[in-house]
Amino acid sequence: MCGIFGYLGYQEAQPLIIDGLTSLAYRGYDSAGIAVLSRGGALGVRKAAGKIDNLIEAATKSPLSGRLGIGHTRWATHGEPSEVNAHPHLDGTGSIVVVHNGILENYGELKARLIANGHVFSSVTDTEVIPHLIQEFVAEGLSFAEAVRIAAGQLRGAHAIACLHADHPEEMVTFRVGNAGGVAIGHGQGGMFIASDMPALTPHTTSVTPLEPGELAIITPERYDVMTLDGKSVDANRVTIAVNATSAAKGGYKHFMLKEVMEQPEVAMSVLRGRLSFEPGEVALDLPFTDQEIKDLNRVIFIGMGTSSHACQIGAQVIERLARIAASAENSAEFRYRDPVVDKHTLVVAVAQSGETADTLEAMDRAHRSGARTITITNTEGSQAYRRAEGAILIHAGQEVGVASSKTFVNSIIAMQLLAIRLARTRGTLSTAAATEYIEALSHLPALLGEALNINGNSFQRLAVKYARSRRFLFIGRGLLEPIAREGALKLKEISYIHAEGMSAAELKHGPIALVDRETPVIALAPLNDLYEKMLSNIAQVRARDGQVIGITSVGNHEFTGLVDDVLLIPEAPLLLEPMVATIPVQLLAYHLADLLGNDVDQPRNLAKSVVVE
Ligand code: G6P
Repeated sequence: MCGIFGYLGYQEAQPLIIDGLTSLAYRGYDSAGIAVLSRGGALGVRKAAGKIDNLIEAATKSPLSGRLGIGHTRWATHGEPSEVNAHPHLDGTGSIVVVHNGILENYGELKARLIANGHVFSSVTDTEVIPHLIQEFVAEGLSFAEAVRIAAGQLRGAHAIACLHADHPEEMVTFRVGNAGGVAIGHGQGGMFIASDMPALTPHTTSVTPLEPGELAIITPERYDVMTLDGKSVDANRVTIAVNATSAAKGGYKHFMLKEVMEQPEVAMSVLRGRLSFEPGEVALDLPFTDQEIKDLNRVIFIGMGTSSHACQIGAQVIERLARIAASAENSAEFRYRDPVVDKHTLVVAVAQSGETADTLEAMDRAHRSGARTITITNTEGSQAYRRAEGAILIHAGQEVGVASSKTFVNSIIAMQLLAIRLARTRGTLSTAAATEYIEALSHLPALLGEALNINGNSFQRLAVKYARSRRFLFIGRGLLEPIAREGALKLKEISYIHAEGMSAAELKHGPIALVDRETPVIALAPLNDLYEKMLSNIAQVRARDGQVIGITSVGNHEFTGLVDDVLLIPEAPLLLEPMVATIPVQLLAYHLADLLGNDVDQPRNLAKSVVVE
């Protein structure tokens, strides 16, 4: 899962490509590179290991001039993130250059064949095979674009690829095989662009043509032709995308992640805006189903990965409670391979902030093939999930730059609650009075999130200092807060690199309690709800084994201070809103620990924001 950006037109390519890669760096940031074709017909390449700043330094010291170029920001799959393994990769003649997103599954076989034909490779990447393969077809006499198309047909796996040929200064070829992230053509004023994702295109144009899997585009400064990989011409439409108004500036915060945590009250308003109807007990949510189809649903399956899969676990619980439909949450990667029993009475809700996660897209296709109905909950209008699903609930969280998701998690859960009300009302499982009360509570959620952000003063900084040397944390919760325990552990792992596990507090005694000792803080999510007493028993079990407990409870719970080592508070909230409110302290605890440890909070090691490989 990497970022691809390309330009062909009348301006200098290097600065445009560097800017494009910078806005795609969330997709991978372990190395980067660019290739530009000079007016004299020479391909120049600059690459650097590490963050994009290293590439900027290399390209500033020794700039490339020309009006056609491609660039890449990498998240390594094959080969360590070094300069030699960074993309772009050239063929042996130095005239074909390729950037690639995906995993070439038959690269061993292709590479052996090419080596037998005399090709010499300089990197250990799977990608380098591709320009060599294209070159073989060019050498056989095919045009460049035709050689790319034939080579594309030999690549197993899922890919998004862009390539140039030094003898074709007016041409860029790009194609997609399967789901390895998208590639879209941007129709600019002074030329054409390609990019893996929309935010890289919006500074230049809002008129785009996203390629579908199995499509190839031949692009010149003035036009584009799209065809299938079988060579059949495709009438590919331009679509207009919205420019995201949320500025990607830190706004005075030390990190984007902190800014994104702090703006959650505001973005919560965005997902609710226009959806809380004035009709008593109704939400305004367009779904692509008739009322009868909603009544006929007998199962809802939420699918997602990472943070989105934790949101799914909450969504399933809320749907069951309100709409009384059997609901479950599944990891998309497992769902897609396990031959699930689904049919036209199953609603599959694909949750993905990026809308590009390969496993989730494949799982959507799997669901679709079985006749299930599909919608997506996503932050990215125009993304692949958005285009594939029958309908979408956009979460309107604005661009999330921090790689570890924060505001998109909370907004996804809010969207799920709106969905639950909508289904429940249509199915007659939620009275007008109960729905009105719930909607009223949701309208106060932004304020509750604001309180949750402020209620603990500088406790997080203090706790970070106290626990910074702990090498392991356990997070426990019950009911709707079990997924928050898991999410808290994931946040901590992602940005602080401290090992953490999140689980049902009830599960603790069935094994994980063996980990409890003085060095293993346990974060217990224990607001004053119907499972509070149960949580107290679990907390007592930890303390009886010399464990230290950081308890998160409702403001006003005065007895708690004596029962735990450290207290964090959340405002009192109706049960269904507790997950969103309780997310805030686990996010802030993870953030302050990671910051104290001096980690790169916004771009943690080994991660990427959009995982477009299996
Ligand atoms: C990556 C990111 C996670 C994210 C997950 C799912 O692993 O690092 O933060 O939760 O992908 O992303 P999605 O776009 O599908 O929500």
